[in-house]
Amino acid sequence: MSTEQTGYRILEPTASASAEASRRAFMSEVLIGLSKKPKSLSSRFLYDAAGSDAFERICDLEEYYLTRCEAEILETHAAGLVERVGGRPINVVDLGAGDGRKTALVLDALLRQGVDVRYVPIDISEPAMKTVVGAMGERFPSLPIGGLVSEYFDGVRWLGEQNDRTNLVLFLGSNIGNFDKAHARAFLQQLWSALSPGDLVLVGFDLKKDIELLLAAYNDREGVTAEFNLNLLDRINRELGGNFDRKSFRHFATYSVFSGAMESYLVSLERQRVFIGALRQSFEFSPWEPIHTEYSYKYLDEDVTDLAYFAGFEVEALYYDRNRWFCDALWKVPGRR
Ligand code: AVJ
Repeated sequence: MSTEQTGYRILEPTASASAEASRRAFMSEVLIGLSKKPKSLSSRFLYDAAGSDAFERICDLEEYYLTRCEAEILETHAAGLVERVGGRPINVVDLGAGDGRKTALVLDALLRQGVDVRYVPIDISEPAMKTVVGAMGERFPSLPIGGLVSEYFDGVRWLGEQNDRTNLVLFLGSNIGNFDKAHARAFLQQLWSALSPGDLVLVGFDLKKDIELLLAAYNDREGVTAEFNLNLLDRINRELGGNFDRKSFRHFATYSVFSGAMESYLVSLERQRVFIGALRQSFEFSPWEPIHTEYSYKYLDEDVTDLAYFAGFEVEALYYDRNRWFCDALWKVPGRR
């Protein structure tokens, strides 16, 4: 990592980091996703500047209990977490750091106990990285920060090359919920193989609960979630020269008891044809035809623990909010360094 105290760099191990490569990835996602039936677009593409901004507003909503529950967990259990870390020097690796508000609770607890911490935020969005590096640098002036702008996968690979200190990997906020079960397993196995014995991971899981609460969280009254989802159409218009009329689509989010996930869609309200300049192609929509945009998987307690062992981790601790709506699971790579 660079010698400067505070900053970030853009990892370019695979093609994924350059602007041209990410535009091509977006183009092929849209081409493939809108050509198939049922149509779908990956939730990865929801987070351009406007989408990340809308997501921050979602986190402040009354109905979106996830953020509040996890903040409560971290406030209540930060001291216990620090105890598990012990006195050893650590890298706090933050996957999908976002604005880092929840991470600050963990860093604060570690620094108060005099732990030697280096902060490594990893995020796909460079504007988000600038913000988190700036904010954390201001809040914790003596904290060394070395951020990476990269996808999870490249960030994890980079991690595999570091073994100067114990790692505490944070994967908070139910970000894992966007992966189906097979991808969650595969991702965590990759993470495990990049880590060393004694390394820790803290993973945030949204738990199965009253379905009305789930539905409300993804169908808020102010329409912020609808805005977040519909922004994907605006993004296609902006970046790929599309002519989507967002008024002819509606946000629809429903819970599937079978898949165990909240599923988000954009549903065409009429028969229409949408032209996308960069693809030199039009796409037909029938009335009520959906585009699937996101899965947000919900977990049972036993799913969380099964996943830990499946991926090779030991369960160190399970932290819950008072309602048991959310769980931050602390796992360890078995063995000694
Ligand atoms: C950031 C993936 C955890 O699935 O709950 C919020 C994104 N989508 N409202 C989630 C989201 C609709 C969020 N994650």
